Amino acid sequence: MSNRNGLRIGIVGAGAIGGRICRALDSGEVPGAALAGLCEVDEAKRRSVLDGLQHPPPSSATPAELAAACDLVVEAVSPGFAPEVIEAAVTHGADVVVMSVAGLVGRDDLVELAARHGRRIYVPTGAIAGLDAVRAAAVAGLDEVTLTTTKPPAGLAGAPHVVEHGLDLAAYREPTVIFDGSAREAVAAFPKNVNVSAALSLAGLGVDRTRVRVVVDPTADTNRHEITATGAAGRLTLAVDNVPSPDNPKTSYLAALSAIALLRRLTSSLVVGS
Ligand SMILES: NC(=O)c1ccc[n+]([C@@H]2O[C@H](COP(=O)([O-])OP(=O)(O)OC[C@H]3O[C@@H](n4cnc5c(N)ncnc54)[C@H](O)[C@@H]3O)[C@@H](O)[C@H]2O)c1
Repeated sequence: MSNRNGLRIGIVGAGAIGGRICRALDSGEVPGAALAGLCEVDEAKRRSVLDGLQHPPPSSATPAELAAACDLVVEAVSPGFAPEVIEAAVTHGADVVVMSVAGLVGRDDLVELAARHGRRIYVPTGAIAGLDAVRAAAVAGLDEVTLTTTKPPAGLAGAPHVVEHGLDLAAYREPTVIFDGSAREAVAAFPKNVNVSAALSLAGLGVDRTRVRVVVDPTADTNRHEITATGAAGRLTLAVDNVPSPDNPKTSYLAALSAIALLRRLTSSLVVGS
C-alpha cells in the first residue's frame, strides 16, 4: 500500500537514528519511499531536523496520528516506548520497523496483534552483522550463540547494571568483562545499549539461551560486537567494529544505516541476502 510518491514512511523519534533516516528519505537515498511525517516530543530536536530537510513533512502529536497517514512507521525512541508505537502502527494500518528491539522481548502479544491486523513488524540487523547467517543456521538447529559487546566507558554510562553495581567506568585501566548472562538479563541490565542482543535472540535461540558478555574497554574508540554461533551448519564467527553515531555516543552509526538498508530492501525489486 503506497501512494504515487511511493512508500509513505513516518518516523517516531528524531534523535541519532530517526534524524539520520529523515535525512536519507528527504534526500532520495531510499528510491520508492518518501518521508510522510515525524513524531518527536522535543521541540528543539524536531525543529533542528525539519529545518535541515528540503521537503519537511507534517509533524504528528502521537504515533497513532502518524501511523494513520503512513504505510510504514519507524520507531527510534526507546525500548519503553516501542510497544506503544508498535500497537499504534499495526492498529492504524501501518507496518512498523523497530529500532528499540529490547522493547519486543517477552511481547509475543504485539506480534499476535500485528498478525491479527495483517501487518508486519520489522527488526533491522542494527548495529551487528550476520543475522541472516544465524537465521539460516537456525533452520538446521543451533547449539550455542554468544554475543560479546565491547564499548568505551561513555557508551555504557548510565546503564542500570552500571548504576546498581556502582561501577566507576572511568576507573578501568584495561578491557574488563562487567556483565555475563543471558540475553534476557542483558536487556534489563543494559536496555539502551544491547538492543543487538535482543535482535540476535529473535534470530537464533531466544532470550534465555543466548549468552551475552559486556566488556568495558578504556582504550576503545569503537563499539565492537562479536557473535559466535555453533550448530548443525558449522561454526559462525562474526565481528563488527562500529563507529559511534555523531549525534549519540551510545548508538552505533551502523544502526541507522541498517534501518536505511532495510527500507531500501522493502522498496527494491532486487532483494539480496536471506
Ligand atoms: N537495533 C539496534 O541495533 C540499535 C542500535 C542503537 C540504538 N538502538 C535504539 O534505537 C533507539 C533510538 O536510538 P537513538 O540513538 O536515535 O536515540 P536518541 O536518544 O538519539 O533519540 C531518541 C529520540 O526520541 C525522542 N522521543 C522521546 N520520547 C518520545 C515520544 N514519546 N514520542 C516521540 N519522540 C520521543 C527523543 O526526544 C529523541 O529525540 C533507542 O532505543 C536505542 O537504544 C538500537
